[in-house]
Amino acid sequence: MSTPLVLGIETSCDETGVGLVSGGVLLGDALASSMEEHARFGGVVPEVAARAHLEAMAPMVRTALQRAQVDLADVTAVAVTAGPGLSPALQVGLAAGKAYALAAGVPLYAVHHLAGHAAVDVLDHGPLPERCVALIVSGGHTSLLSVGDLARDEIVHLGDTVDDAAGEAFDKVARLIGLPYPGGPAIDRAARDGDPHAIAFPRPLTGPSDPPWTFSFSGLKTAVARWVEAHDGTVPVPDVAASFQEAVADTLARKAVAACADQGADILLMVGGVAANSRVRALMEQRCAAAGLTLRVPPIRLCTDNGAMIAALGDLLVRADVEPDPLDVAADPRARLTGALLHGTRALPVA
Ligand code: KG4
Ligand code: ZN
Repeated sequence: MSTPLVLGIETSCDETGVGLVSGGVLLGDALASSMEEHARFGGVVPEVAARAHLEAMAPMVRTALQRAQVDLADVTAVAVTAGPGLSPALQVGLAAGKAYALAAGVPLYAVHHLAGHAAVDVLDHGPLPERCVALIVSGGHTSLLSVGDLARDEIVHLGDTVDDAAGEAFDKVARLIGLPYPGGPAIDRAARDGDPHAIAFPRPLTGPSDPPWTFSFSGLKTAVARWVEAHDGTVPVPDVAASFQEAVADTLARKAVAACADQGADILLMVGGVAANSRVRALMEQRCAAAGLTLRVPPIRLCTDNGAMIAALGDLLVRADVEPDPLDVAADPRARLTGALLHGTRALPVA
């Protein structure tokens, strides 16, 4: 039998990502972004993203194969993001995934984007523990989860956001203070020259009677908006950026560390685009160390959307002998995270 080699394809938002993973090792990947085409609209335009995916797909697959020094004929399975995400963008990736699977005559896995964010950590830090608490902080989602075997077990939600996601709050606050899209990296940069304690922004839902694992960032965004309005014309952008970033980092750290204690977990896995934030990483590391927890967080480049994360998840599914999806599998732009596969996980019958 040939060595397992998974081709992963990601197109849920504005990045066209392709990765090749074999046995937990990233052999090569490629990434194209349509971010600049959306910047003037202040957010991602789904149809523009879909067209960019269409143009970038074949070149990215070719580049990833070249970097990995393999051929399409060496691929033994294809994994593709089937949700959640922007519907027109997902459709392009899913159609490509089906075409490559059909052309190569290999099985297809239609995977959940957020499970991919968690899986990518395996590439740099080895297998995940039997169970851990995971904090997913992306542009569309903020969740605290109890995670076991990513390929086989159901993912249990401890808490989610009731309104804006953490990344969404970064993007909206950036717009308020005149920083470009995407807001997260722009705030991260501006905050370097600011005082994180200049303005006491709220830490939402961290009071003793608040739901401990639930997030809410829309009130924090409004607090920044009010502050900016009140200081019209004299807004110290670095201080606002640093103080807002500190409020997000502190809120995430308090809740994640408390969730680990509650679950008896000694490992916290932090993933998603906001896990690329320098202050979120540093404060989480500090709080975890103080609480005797080990923090696992992927390298910065693999925190934001990419193809390696989908290939990493596909590789876990293949190695766990999970049954693949049929070629008429559908995308689901609003899929809730319950496991690695978008439409549920079935183990292959023992031969
Ligand atoms: O995971 P991701 O790439 O896409 C989604 O699945 O949503 O996350 C994108 C989000 C955006 O909101 C972006 O502003 C945020 O992650 N982000 C950051 C940083 N880099 C990306 N937020 C804060 N600091 C960063 N350095
Ligand atoms: Zn993502």
